[in-house]
Amino acid sequence: MSRLVVISNRVALPKQTQTGGLASAMNAALQERGGLWFGWSGNIGKESGTELHEVTERNISYATIDLSRKDHDEYYAGFANRALWPLFHYRGDLVDYRRDHMEGYFRVNAVFADNVARLIQPNDTIWVQDYHLIPLAQLLRDRGVRNRIGFFLHTPLPAAGLMITLPRHRELFESLASYDLVGLHTHRDLRALEDYFLHELGAAMRTGGRIRAANGRLFRAGVFPISIDTAEVVELAHRTEDTGDVARLRHSLDGRELIIGVDRLDYSKGLPQRFEAFARLLRDNEEMRRRVSFLQIAPPSRSEVPEYRQIRRDLERSAGHINGQFAEPDWVPIRYVNKSYPQKMLAGYFRVARVGLVTPLRDGMNLVAKEYIACQDPKDPGVLVLSRFAGAAQELGAALLVNPNDLDDVAEALKRALDMSLKERRQRWDASMEVLENNDITRWRNAFLEALMHPARNASDLATTAPAETIS
Ligand code: UDP
Ligand code: G6P
Repeated sequence: MSRLVVISNRVALPKQTQTGGLASAMNAALQERGGLWFGWSGNIGKESGTELHEVTERNISYATIDLSRKDHDEYYAGFANRALWPLFHYRGDLVDYRRDHMEGYFRVNAVFADNVARLIQPNDTIWVQDYHLIPLAQLLRDRGVRNRIGFFLHTPLPAAGLMITLPRHRELFESLASYDLVGLHTHRDLRALEDYFLHELGAAMRTGGRIRAANGRLFRAGVFPISIDTAEVVELAHRTEDTGDVARLRHSLDGRELIIGVDRLDYSKGLPQRFEAFARLLRDNEEMRRRVSFLQIAPPSRSEVPEYRQIRRDLERSAGHINGQFAEPDWVPIRYVNKSYPQKMLAGYFRVARVGLVTPLRDGMNLVAKEYIACQDPKDPGVLVLSRFAGAAQELGAALLVNPNDLDDVAEALKRALDMSLKERRQRWDASMEVLENNDITRWRNAFLEALMHPARNASDLATTAPAETIS
């Protein structure tokens, strides 16, 4: 078996609490197979990439580099998170494109390429992750790297009509053709990629899902819905359910039902709308007051980006306003917490909650939705209320699917979830859990690597994960 080299901007270094899907998923994906994980250390240094920090824990070697202040600001806080992130989440209104940011993005990708080119061996399989590193394969090829290189996009890919609004979009997106395989979460994302390559870049479809780019390079793209380490998460929820922290949360509820949300503080997560929808539940259903508490865990994220500071201010105001409107001396409707928690504690919290409320306006997958399901007590499971615009909705059709822009829809789903019979809760949970047992992180990793390593064997099999049936 060849060595796996994973390259991502964010690396889940040992003993750090992570709050992103990529770090959670790649950590789980590497635990069993082992390999090398290369990326940004999370620290600012004098210069980018001049020193390699190396740690090995069990079968994973971590190699990270610092970034200079300028590179961090232009590549990470700039082009990646002020242009690509909003664009990919359909927020054209928030895209702040600057030429120097884009140059910083290419410059840091070249620093990554220089470091990686020195580390890899001829038989390594290289797997690049996410929107920070789109041009990396091309830069590695320019440095003579001939290994197989795969790419996985953890965000949605928007419609071609939106992709072309990015200045110099060709220069960036055409470089995807330097990968051997590009993985996406859903069929919608795959259609967007094909549409863009075919109609904007003059590429042509070939058999077996292959795309021939205008420069003649052939690559493939496929659907690989990411997942969680289902067995491990089930086990975590079991182990933590009676620990002090979880018992304290249960005790504090005083018999009330808990609705839980866990999201990085990001405008793509639909938090202002979610708070308003919860307020509407209380406004329209007096009997729900005092009967429920809503716990929203929202660790701050990317605070150097102004839009993220703004959403934090907006939510503080909204939570204060709603609590002021509905709270009683012995009951606060929204518990709003700006801290991150280790996954094992979240697992216990998810198990206590009667409703998991996951309502992003757009999300590549949303692992929290899957974790919430896996943490439930099979004898008395809670209900997942899930946005149709999370990739997870393609698989978890047995959740209560909502449009997060329709506050009444979300408020009604909350009421329905809180009133749902045990029989229906079990039926929906069984169907969702079956999906997670069949498609866990190991299956995702193996499916991608198998398609990357053996293209001929998997030629017709790249887009076969059918969308889930919904239970109405
Ligand atoms: N997470 C965590 N601690 C927190 C908040 C989140 O460990 O305080 C984890 C969460 O369990 C999940 C990931 O961060 O595994 C979030 O992934 P998701 O796909 O839901 O969203 P993303 O943050 O990647 O947009
Ligand atoms: C999303 C992105 C990841 C990113 C994570 C956390 O999941 O797809 O690439 O690592 O958010 O964001 P951060 O900017 O802190 O790495």
